[in-house]
Amino acid sequence: MPDNFFISTAIPYANAEPHIGHLLEFLYADTMARYQRLLGNEVFFLTGTDEHGQKVLKTAREFGMTPGSYAEKMSALFQNMADQWNITNNDFIRTTEDRHRLGAQKFWQSVQQSGDIYKKAYTGLYCVGCESFKTEKDLVNGKCSDHLTVPEQLTEENYFFRLSRYQEPLEFLFEKNPHFVHPEGRSREMVNMLKSGLEDVSISRVKEKLPWGVPVPGDDAQVMYVWFDALTNYITALGYGSADESLLRKFWPGVNMVGKEINRFHSLLWPAMLMAAGLEPPRQIAVHGWITVEGQKMSKTIGNVVNPLALIEEYPLEALRYFFMREIPFDNDGDFSRAKFLERYQGDLANGLGNLASRVFSMIDKYTGGVIPEVENVNHEMSDLLKHKIWPAYQAAMSRWRFDQALEEAWKFVAYCDQLISDRRPWVMIKDGRASEVDDLLYYLAEALRHIATMVWPVLPETAEKIITALGLETAIEFAKPLAELSQWVELTVGNKTIASAQLFPRLQAPKVVVS
Ligand code: MSP
Repeated sequence: MPDNFFISTAIPYANAEPHIGHLLEFLYADTMARYQRLLGNEVFFLTGTDEHGQKVLKTAREFGMTPGSYAEKMSALFQNMADQWNITNNDFIRTTEDRHRLGAQKFWQSVQQSGDIYKKAYTGLYCVGCESFKTEKDLVNGKCSDHLTVPEQLTEENYFFRLSRYQEPLEFLFEKNPHFVHPEGRSREMVNMLKSGLEDVSISRVKEKLPWGVPVPGDDAQVMYVWFDALTNYITALGYGSADESLLRKFWPGVNMVGKEINRFHSLLWPAMLMAAGLEPPRQIAVHGWITVEGQKMSKTIGNVVNPLALIEEYPLEALRYFFMREIPFDNDGDFSRAKFLERYQGDLANGLGNLASRVFSMIDKYTGGVIPEVENVNHEMSDLLKHKIWPAYQAAMSRWRFDQALEEAWKFVAYCDQLISDRRPWVMIKDGRASEVDDLLYYLAEALRHIATMVWPVLPETAEKIITALGLETAIEFAKPLAELSQWVELTVGNKTIASAQLFPRLQAPKVVVS
């Protein structure tokens, strides 16, 4: 049964340029979105930028700009990154847009009507980097452990959200749905936090001190706390609070995918907010790890921040997409290094998939006049391998967000095909006049390429299209067949097509030597 599938990234703060950490998250979401489309589901993939709050205001001031024009400039860079990296988001929401601001206000009013918002005087330690209050026990030597800065002391009268009232409903949510937070380790962290008890949270700031935010409905002197505002983007983009809520009805509850340091906001605060507003909690919170560069945390001070746009000037886009999805397992932290990238490029792409495809195309060209031969026999060995091992393992890995393992499965099949060629030695068959055996082999190798193209499509869409076109197949639907028709695996679909050759992964220029 086709499903409606909503997926989002966290919306990055519009206070700095995108780096490969943001990119990694966009790529994970894109891979999942494309995979869901391959399954025949209707997908709504959302991303955007988080533009209010102290962090954006502070940076804009440092650049001598208004927060609005600064955020606009940064937001455009994130939108450009999505375009350049072939990210298939259906929408891009900016929290400064009217549709969001109005929706966030409607949401506030709805929570207020539930009696879950009240006002009180408060003193606390605030980390601008995290846009979050801290307690003494969160600090290391008096500093935020993530940002290594001393938090500000804030004394204000703010509105509070009765998060504590959602202690039991949240416990119930985690109990009833053990996969609510994925992976398991991240879920356990949240369950432990829940066990230690939830306290009410401040959800507004005095406008005089922080003029850059969504006004609190009915109180001109206060603006919404940036997280309370930003979290609602996932539903304001679907039309929440507007005259047309059809997308909301169609796609919510959806999957919110986020990095590990903001798990708590998404897995505890956000579902409680939704319940308070009478809406369903998310279908899942999927939590990924962090990427480092050459073994070190990215930081402006170290000067090792990698800009995704600079990267695609240096290397082919598809190969980079492959590297990130193959090398950084969703559940863990991972590392980017040029040496590892080049190793993957050479091994997996140029000598692996690229070499297999060019061998198959050139044999078809040479031995069967450029036409994929028609055959009548089913190659049971290949069919069984695909049906019982490769595809099930691939699909299981994809559904667990382990894109690295799914690609590994596809490459096991690449290795199988290479082995098949070495074992069967078609060049000897030709010499011996065993033409029908050559036909069978080449047909099945062409069919194998169709399966491989399908498997790699979510990560390597252009490479997959090149293979499909070279095989003489026309539409994306044709290569999605293995997933749509699970009963017919190695079907006679590619026969009698004239092939064109395709060069997939050309030799790379020698890496630039960077002298620092
Ligand atoms: N604005 C908030 C999110 C609000 S969502 C309602 C925010 N922004 S952020 O720019 O700091 O981070 C955006 C996303 O990028 C987060 O999910 C974060 O985990 C991810 N990454 C930022 N740096 C990262 C790495 N180095 N590696 C992987 N992802 C990381 O938090």
